[in-house]
Amino acid sequence: MDGQSITLDRVTMRFGTFLAVDDVSLQVQPGEFFSFLGPSGCGKTTILRMISGFMEPSAGRVLIGDKDMAGIGPNRRPTALIFQNLALFPLMKVWENVAFGLEVRGVDKAARRRRANELLEMVALANQGEKLVSELSGGQRQRVAIARALAVEPSVLLLDEPLSALDLKLRQHMRAELRMLQRRTGVTFVYITHDQGEALTMSDRIAVMSSGRIEQMGTPSEVYNHPSTAFCATFVGENNAFPGRVVAVDGEIAAIDTPMGRLFGRRDSATREGDPAILFVRPERCHLGEASSSGNRIDTRVIRLDLEGAYTNLVAEGPDRELTVHLSGDAGFAGVAEGGPVTIGFDPMAALVLPEGRMARA
Ligand SMILES: Nc1ncnc2c1ncn2[C@@H]1O[C@H](COP(=O)(O)OP(=O)(O)O)[C@@H](O)[C@H]1O
Ligand SMILES: [Mg+2]
Repeated sequence: MDGQSITLDRVTMRFGTFLAVDDVSLQVQPGEFFSFLGPSGCGKTTILRMISGFMEPSAGRVLIGDKDMAGIGPNRRPTALIFQNLALFPLMKVWENVAFGLEVRGVDKAARRRRANELLEMVALANQGEKLVSELSGGQRQRVAIARALAVEPSVLLLDEPLSALDLKLRQHMRAELRMLQRRTGVTFVYITHDQGEALTMSDRIAVMSSGRIEQMGTPSEVYNHPSTAFCATFVGENNAFPGRVVAVDGEIAAIDTPMGRLFGRRDSATREGDPAILFVRPERCHLGEASSSGNRIDTRVIRLDLEGAYTNLVAEGPDRELTVHLSGDAGFAGVAEGGPVTIGFDPMAALVLPEGRMARA
């Protein structure tokens, strides 16, 4: 099986006057694991439907490989689709489920059987072919659905929140499995999720979406470490956000006046003195005590101190708002008590100053 590229060229989808997908352009590479990440209702499924051919864009083009897909129905596209609701046939044998698409295509029974066995081996269900789907666990059913989708040799596999019905442990286990399967098959995966953990752990690249638009596209590390908008900074991972105004810019560092005091952070290249901006700092980049290098200092009162296992979650009330700090297990924080005062600092290079913008969580 070989993956093909996907090109979205200024793709737009309107429902009446509502813009569900707004002028999206991007290219997915052959054999890439590409995720669309965004909150419910941001247009992810609509994009998948346009790639699979169940919907035609209101404007723009979808190409698979070099081929424009306009007017080509779902059955004639080199794509296969997996939903959250797997739609397996519970009373059919596992191998018959896997071979179902081949039967429809007129492949004879011996060849179907052979192909089903190969695929079941690939998804680590060898020798389970004679069981009924109803006898399998949730994770095994998920693998049957993947084998069935791969049976018709798609060059693009489209997955719409396929893990969201599973419990947490299984979901985390299936992440690694899906990633491995993608590598093994070389098929292009387009994965849709509202779960940042899934997108970050599995993808080669992620497109972060909000209200029908792409906010940012990049590798998991780019998206996590260098969010380009206030939305990305707050939707992907936890962040403390301090809105204010830029009062000085010095090389890479911007100073911003906020109701929490004057704070310093790495700036984005467009940041200018006088601009409204937001300083973001992740809970794990904050520490107790003033930052020695910079004067980043917020005097707060401890609201809660919760042991999470690997770290302690400190929620503190500052002059203007609450902030969250993750203290590593062995950090000495004797003397920090609920209701008591605590000073919090962070290195300017650990914080990011971005233009004012809509946030995912206030
Ligand atoms: N067939 C449709 N008719 C009208 N509105 C739709 C239709 N399909 C989706 N929408 C709307 O478009 C927006 C995006 O939907 P969808 O792509 O399903 O989002 P997501 O998958 O990101 O949750 C939503 O506001 C949804 O209500
Ligand atoms: Mg959806």
